[in-house]
Amino acid sequence: MQVIITENKIAASKKAFSLLQQDIAQGATVLGLATGSTPVGLYDEICASELDCSALTAVNLDEYVGIAPTNPQSYHHFMHQHLFSKKPFKQSFIPDGTNRNADEVIAEYNQVLADHPIDTQILGIGQNGHIGFNEPGTPFDSQTHKVQLTASTIAANARFFASPAEVPSEAYTMGIGSIMQAKHIILMAFGEQKAAAIAATVDGEVTPAVPASVLQTHPNATIIIDRPAASQLR
Ligand code: PGA
Repeated sequence: MQVIITENKIAASKKAFSLLQQDIAQGATVLGLATGSTPVGLYDEICASELDCSALTAVNLDEYVGIAPTNPQSYHHFMHQHLFSKKPFKQSFIPDGTNRNADEVIAEYNQVLADHPIDTQILGIGQNGHIGFNEPGTPFDSQTHKVQLTASTIAANARFFASPAEVPSEAYTMGIGSIMQAKHIILMAFGEQKAAAIAATVDGEVTPAVPASVLQTHPNATIIIDRPAASQLR
């Protein structure tokens, strides 16, 4: 894995955007996209640029279970607000959080991934090392599945909701195996609160206890972090 340390989040987002542009220039048409605060700067760069996204397909990592696309906290809404409303894509896919039939959602999404193999995958990372909603302990070969969110993830996401009780307790997520299929993976992390997870990801043992550590085994993974997030690296 290649680790790039930048002065700040803006420089990191610009770097991620330039790598993404390079991938697209070399033929990438399917982008795996993430929600959360981390990729917002990258999406701002895309929106402010001349990049034409009308031939691109977006496949998102995850969605809460039991939340409608119109709910402002849904990841459908997030993607529309931060990217798709300003830069129309050819098509975009996000797991259907309104369908509580998990078997159906999983089969559908695995088919989406089979039909649209991801060229470049954008990732954030949780303080516990999760990628997507793949919490510690998730098998490295997992495909799309339904997860029970951990207390720490619910607490971290509570800032977006009126109270922790309103944070959904389940989500559909692409699996670690699905993520690892991407040809190029760009993981970004900012701030001291991510430093321990980044150190474990980059310098630690490859273990399901730290889901992002699997990226050490990916042939083309780029980690872009600011100085505080890099502060515990060896
Ligand atoms: P964040 O979340 O970008 O809001 O920090 C990342 C994640 O939990 O994967």
